[in-house]
Amino acid sequence: MKRSLSIALALLLSFVINGRVYAAASADSADSEAGDEDSLANQGFAISPIPKADLKFSGENQKRVGLGSFIVNAIGDCSGCHSFPEFLRKGVTAGSNPAAGDPFEGLPSSEATTQQPVVANFNASHYLAGGQCFGPFMARNLTPDANGLPQGLTEAEFVKVMRTGQDISCEKSPSDAICDLGPDTPVLQVMPWPTYHNMMDHQLKSIYAYLSAIPPANACNTVDDGCPGFSGAAAHSATYAYPNTADCPNPAPPQ
Ligand code: HEC
Repeated sequence: MKRSLSIALALLLSFVINGRVYAAASADSADSEAGDEDSLANQGFAISPIPKADLKFSGENQKRVGLGSFIVNAIGDCSGCHSFPEFLRKGVTAGSNPAAGDPFEGLPSSEATTQQPVVANFNASHYLAGGQCFGPFMARNLTPDANGLPQGLTEAEFVKVMRTGQDISCEKSPSDAICDLGPDTPVLQVMPWPTYHNMMDHQLKSIYAYLSAIPPANACNTVDDGCPGFSGAAAHSATYAYPNTADCPNPAPPQ
């Protein structure tokens, strides 16, 4: 009796959890204390700046893609370095939510969110396409290449990068001009790989699944534009050199 009741409850709960999470759904119902991977995956889809309908994945990969989005968008802050400019001003329709500006315009709610774009107009058309400079080092484009591989890396190569900081992309394509921007270093200098190193295999593979599912995109700031004070058109300037357009605001809103 007790057992069938708990099965019924679980079914009811999973209906709530597996349904799309809208702001109308109470935060409590989506926010399972258990923190199990199904609820993390659902939250991942709800907060992805690229809506679930625009992500490319197969049914069997669904949970991995959702979990990957949760790690990328709620924990790993990959977008903080790899999307640039990360946010657009209010009203710019290339963004994830034109009605919202960058999150620094007003105070976001302290309530648990079930939808990221409620508080930010993410630069969706350049999402994770790289271009931001950290001194002479430029963040890479993590979106799928012509073969569908994120940053041109296979899953095994990607896991190795995240564990060891080895610059596998530049080892594979040394003539890529982005590799010459910074000095030669034995391992990636800016990427927080010593922290990402601590993830489990299936979590790193989930990140890879999400990166494989997002749309390909080009960076606003290119290698020719360079890095302020270091290279390219911006070499002798303190500011970025890329052309100021609606979806590539220059100067960038607060990042
Ligand atoms: C603090 C900024 C920062 C964060 C956060 C960050 N990256 Fe990076 N990443 C960079 C920069 C800059 C580079 C270029 C190389 C370097 O670090 O010198 C890079 C390079 C990479 C590369 C290319 C490595 C290669 O050469 O093959 C991958 C893949 C990558 N990042 C994935 C990610 C993922 C996935 C996340 C989130 C889990 C992430 N990064 C978060 C700054 C960052």
